Amino acid sequence: MKIGGFKVGEYAFKEEGKKKHLVFDCASCVYHASISDDRVCMYHVLYALNEIDADVIVLSEVYERIYDEKQTLILKEIVKLIQKFSMEAPWSYNNLVNPQYLKDEGVVSARHKMIVTITHDLIAYDPLGAYFACLREINREKETFSSSGPDYKAGSAIYLKTLLYIKSAFEECELIKQTKKFLTELKEMPEFKEIYRALFEAQIKPAFIGSRLVFREEEGMELLDEYLVKNSTVQIFSHPNQTQNLYFINPPEYTLSPEKYFVLSKAKEIVSGYTPGKASLSTVAKSREYFERLYRSTIMEIAQQHNISLNKKEIVELSEIVARYSVGYGILEILLSDRKLTDIYLDSPIGQTPLYVMHSDFDQCLTNVLYTEREASALITKLRAMSARPFDEVHPVLDFDLPELETRVAAIGPPLAPDGVAFAFRLHKITPWTLPQFIDVKYLNPLAAGFISFLIDNQATMLVTGSRGSGKTSLLSACILEIPKNTRIIVQEDTLEIPVEYMKKVGFNIQRLKTRSPISVSKTEVEVEPEEALRTALRLGNSALVIGEVRSKEARTLYEAMRIGAAGNVVIGTIHADSAYAVWDRVVNDLEVPTTSFKATDIVVTARPIRFYGSLKSNRRVVEITEIRKHWIEEPAREGGLLDLMRYSAKEDNLELLEDNLKESELFDKISRISGQTLEEMWKDIRMRAESKRYLVEMKNKHDIPELLEADTASMANDKLMLLREKQIREFGKVNYDEILEQWKKWLNDKIIPRLIKK
Ligand SMILES: Nc1ncnc2c1ncn2[C@@H]1O[C@H](COP(=O)(O)OP(=O)(O)OP(=O)(O)O)[C@@H](O)[C@H]1O
Ligand SMILES: [Mg+2]
Repeated sequence: MKIGGFKVGEYAFKEEGKKKHLVFDCASCVYHASISDDRVCMYHVLYALNEIDADVIVLSEVYERIYDEKQTLILKEIVKLIQKFSMEAPWSYNNLVNPQYLKDEGVVSARHKMIVTITHDLIAYDPLGAYFACLREINREKETFSSSGPDYKAGSAIYLKTLLYIKSAFEECELIKQTKKFLTELKEMPEFKEIYRALFEAQIKPAFIGSRLVFREEEGMELLDEYLVKNSTVQIFSHPNQTQNLYFINPPEYTLSPEKYFVLSKAKEIVSGYTPGKASLSTVAKSREYFERLYRSTIMEIAQQHNISLNKKEIVELSEIVARYSVGYGILEILLSDRKLTDIYLDSPIGQTPLYVMHSDFDQCLTNVLYTEREASALITKLRAMSARPFDEVHPVLDFDLPELETRVAAIGPPLAPDGVAFAFRLHKITPWTLPQFIDVKYLNPLAAGFISFLIDNQATMLVTGSRGSGKTSLLSACILEIPKNTRIIVQEDTLEIPVEYMKKVGFNIQRLKTRSPISVSKTEVEVEPEEALRTALRLGNSALVIGEVRSKEARTLYEAMRIGAAGNVVIGTIHADSAYAVWDRVVNDLEVPTTSFKATDIVVTARPIRFYGSLKSNRRVVEITEIRKHWIEEPAREGGLLDLMRYSAKEDNLELLEDNLKESELFDKISRISGQTLEEMWKDIRMRAESKRYLVEMKNKHDIPELLEADTASMANDKLMLLREKQIREFGKVNYDEILEQWKKWLNDKIIPRLIKK
């Protein structure tokens, strides 16, 4: 298209997130692809907006510059102003002069030229320049006016009026309003270019990547943390006026040199010629390797052909990037590698709001990443192919474990999600939480950890409860690590969250059963119902039984088995509720377990996010350890069936032992009967476990060796403690707990700690 001798880059329309994008192909344009840096570019954009309406402007060359809705609106106002001026023609003769009094043609022609410049020519390239030209002309004219005679005044009043009218028309526009605000804040006149840059700060992204990054620094933002994830810098900021923190990611592919972009775009173009078949999509990891190899050789060829020098490291880096954006998950992949994130949410309509994440240190954060519809539909295609499950109007939920990424994705689509698809990713922890780690983050104290360890070793039945995300499943994993390694463990889950693979590697003997997910509404689900799986688990014989989450009919089967003692030795699980009483209520009233069967539960551990002094940051804490006593008939709370053994005090930020309640405990009697230990011995045992875990934390912090608390070492340390105890029982028929602790600490200091320090 040609306008006034210029070749204007071609433009096209695109709908995204229900918004109209006007996309300019700037590759063929000789001007700079930026509204703020090139007045001709501004002209092209205003010209196009004069012809077509749009919500978002995109200037596309190797990068894409994206001007959001607010910015586009500012431009559209200018276009309207130009249209208004051209309708009203303020440059017409009778707006310039009253010819009865002023006959100087030279003055009239100068006025004509000035008004045309301001309202017709300059405005389309540099609207701010036009406005300031208007202000200057007003000042100049006012001076001439006041020093001139009555004829001049009578002949020129209309001109001054026209100028003032133009000025006020300009001042209706957001561009001028914002500039004025800007200028009063600055107190000093900057160059127009700087003002344009401030107002039209575009989001920039490489053209071959869908996701946009929005960097908007604002005053008062405070850097809370900074770290690297897969060569990408992550920065966490707090915002002065927003309750959620900001999570900014800056992957290398957004800041490469133009040459490298060129190579990348070319490589992607060439390789997309060979589309992979469905089969290779379903084995992503394998096809990933294949593609990275293919990209490497293609990139080398392109670089050679175009005389671009790249070293080996750069070639590998570039091929990883292309693979990420072709066969991989795009920018999501980097977020998925940040294991400090626990969840990633992509809400519909996609493309309208940045995605947000749950961060294990900083809670909910808004990111700077805008995902696009195109990427979302590519992701859906990928998920369909990999899961071999349908996802459409009849099956609007797709719930799937991403292979190799330790991540569960739930996608929902219309009609369930009327605004289009949305995704939630849950990132599982690859190594399980351990009780010492929980002590370290103050989730619970050493005594509670020792107590839980003791209960599990003594085959108590325990349910962990709490609100969503309070750490139930994490605590359950930590509890599994306290089960003696010679016990067979059956883990039943509908979502594979417990790091079973890792636990097996560390020496646990675990059989996993995967049951059908309750949130999937898919009709072709092949997985087994939880109730059926549980019956199978019970038939597998004497094992510790771990139920990822008790949530439906299987509860009846479970309690029935526990009541008659057919459920094996240890039974532990999680259940969604917020206190021991609420667990009873759920189990009996919702899940229809007979109330007296509930007595098969020995202990309920309740966790809760605590906000100190109303702070926005919540900290997870175990708040209650409650014993379910056995002598009640209908309703345990009324009949003294719920006995808190430990209770959290917010004032002390500590889980306190309730010594008076302990005297009424029936559980210790029961354990005493089974194990033959006296109450005093049991407490010595608990305190020994507590001290050993506390000591691990102390040593970890003293020597700065976080590995000491990881599951492999922590469970080895636990084994050692138990072995030392066994040895004493065998040799002396009784246990000297202080002596064991001493031997154990020596072992830790001599054998384990030096090894970790060396690493
Ligand atoms: N004490 C803790 N401190 C910090 N982070 C924790 C703690 N406990 C758990 N987390 C993290 O919080 C996230 C949620 O934990 P988890 O899945 O165990 O909670 P949940 O109560 O089982 O949640 P849901 O209700 O969804 O089942 C996990 O990523 C976990 O690593
Ligand atoms: Mg859970």
